[in-house]
Amino acid sequence: MADNRKLPAERTAVLTGAGSPRGIGRATAGRLAREGWAVAILDIDGDAAKAAAEEIGAQGVKTIGVAADVSDRESVNAAIQEVESAMPPIFGLVNLAGISSPTEFMAETVEGWDRVFAINMRGTFLVTQRVLTGMIERKMGRIVSISSISAQRGGGTYSKVAYSASKAGILGFTRALAREMGPHNITVNAVAPGPIDTDIMGGTLTEERKAQMSEGIMVGRVGSREEVAALISFLMGEDAGFITAATVDINGGLQVS
Ligand SMILES: NC(=O)c1ccc[n+]([C@@H]2O[C@H](COP(=O)([O-])OP(=O)(O)OC[C@H]3O[C@@H](n4cnc5c(N)ncnc54)[C@H](O)[C@@H]3O)[C@@H](O)[C@H]2O)c1
Repeated sequence: MADNRKLPAERTAVLTGAGSPRGIGRATAGRLAREGWAVAILDIDGDAAKAAAEEIGAQGVKTIGVAADVSDRESVNAAIQEVESAMPPIFGLVNLAGISSPTEFMAETVEGWDRVFAINMRGTFLVTQRVLTGMIERKMGRIVSISSISAQRGGGTYSKVAYSASKAGILGFTRALAREMGPHNITVNAVAPGPIDTDIMGGTLTEERKAQMSEGIMVGRVGSREEVAALISFLMGEDAGFITAATVDINGGLQVS
């Protein structure tokens, strides 16, 4: 296979779940924009997606914000179609859209279980499959999906079994897809964050809650969204072409793999 490591100057990264103002996705979109990517933000909250695109567009890069429910094939197809017609070719995808679930196992319902899997797993499948067509044609791509320390450690944070199982699914998805996509010069990786200071764990974290969560974390604090954004952006970059099928931990030492 040709040693083709170069990303083109004109390239778009699609980020799902990057609307939330204090989320990992928005920070990652900003970081990728600074590193030369045009940025397409897909979020179920269309207003938030558009606001994020506008904010990041102020950095002087091409951006687009599109309302999309990642769990719905029609919605995903329409959103990616819109991105493809307005933006440079898609060379990168970051699967961030996700929901948490604090429901304990014996109280879990089929509806609750299916909702978590529909967004965290099926959403990742649908968006990835849709953008891969173009990446395979162009023989270059970067895919990064967000798992969680919850998958490795068996919960132990805010979310319980359904979330943990869905995020463990991301690891199998990543490894098996990386095997199929390697010959197409497309890398597929996962990152597994520990507790990060965002609003996903039932709202903005208080200082007291952050202190509680910091117990057992070697560096003595929760992580920031910018720290996760920096890791994702490295995996999306040219220097990461020999990293694939990897799960990269970012957890301050809470879990040693
Ligand atoms: N914050 C943490 O501690 C942490 C740790 C490990 C993994 N993660 C993962 O990181 C990702 C980002 O989380 P965050 O902490 O930034 O939370 P967040 O709640 O700020 O972001 C999640 C985003 O996903 C969007 N979303 C939800 N359902 C959607 C759907 N059906 N279609 C499209 N978009 C949808 C939301 O609108 C929101 O913008 C999630 O997958 C989460 O599970 C977070």
